[in-house]
Amino acid sequence: IAAQLSNPGNANLIVLNVIDSTNQYIKEHQTELPNGFVCLAEAQTAGRGRHGRKWVSPYGASMYLSMHWTFALGYQALNGLSLVIGVAVVEALKKLGIVEAQVKWPNDIYVQGKKLAGILIEVEGQMGATCQCVIGIGLNVALPTSVTQIDQPYTDMQSILEQDIDRNRFAATLINELHTTMEVFEKSGLQPFIAPWQAADVYANKAIKLIIGQKTIEGIGRGIDNSGALLIETAEGVRAYQGGEISVRPG
Ligand code: BTN
Repeated sequence: IAAQLSNPGNANLIVLNVIDSTNQYIKEHQTELPNGFVCLAEAQTAGRGRHGRKWVSPYGASMYLSMHWTFALGYQALNGLSLVIGVAVVEALKKLGIVEAQVKWPNDIYVQGKKLAGILIEVEGQMGATCQCVIGIGLNVALPTSVTQIDQPYTDMQSILEQDIDRNRFAATLINELHTTMEVFEKSGLQPFIAPWQAADVYANKAIKLIIGQKTIEGIGRGIDNSGALLIETAEGVRAYQGGEISVRPG
């Protein structure tokens, strides 16, 4: 992998065989890690997903990747980070020939209506102060035919491309994309990524439902606003929604 990075002399990377969670590895070492440091593993025994879910992580079947980044500006600067990482994953997939990859707010990656990758960003720090970020990406490369524990429609790179995947090449492409993306994001925030995100929005102009606790809101997906909030057009007009506890489903 290191040999294929744009900046191999500065390859801050560790590849592990088995780990509880690559996000956990970064968390435990983050104070001593440089920005852009990546941990990859062949398998995870306690892979984590969003909303406290488990991320099924069989050996050698996927890419389990976590990257460290420290933000000097604190939380305020992080609005939209999850959307930006979604765009980076879509761009990396395009470079390998998966041109139809789409984003589902806030940051799932879908192909042909099935989930290909998930992103879990964990942040530690205080408002306005330095904060440590773990950017975790789980991407299905070649899952065994029936992974019964996955509770939603999913796909993998091998079935989309109908060929064996060079995981090292893909990892290098993804890491290069993440590094470039984070540099742009640190300098310019979410703004440069809004148009690419909208272009890849799986729910653009489609009927959707937002589930917020016990409440369901139905309407038409209208992309995102400048802060990264999801826009939905309901009978009362266009409303913006932001927050970690929202799930988006087809309407
Ligand atoms: C989701 O729920 O969609 C997000 C899944 C994120 C999984 C990845 S796999 C690498 C990293 N380590 C973890 O424990 N989780 C993330």
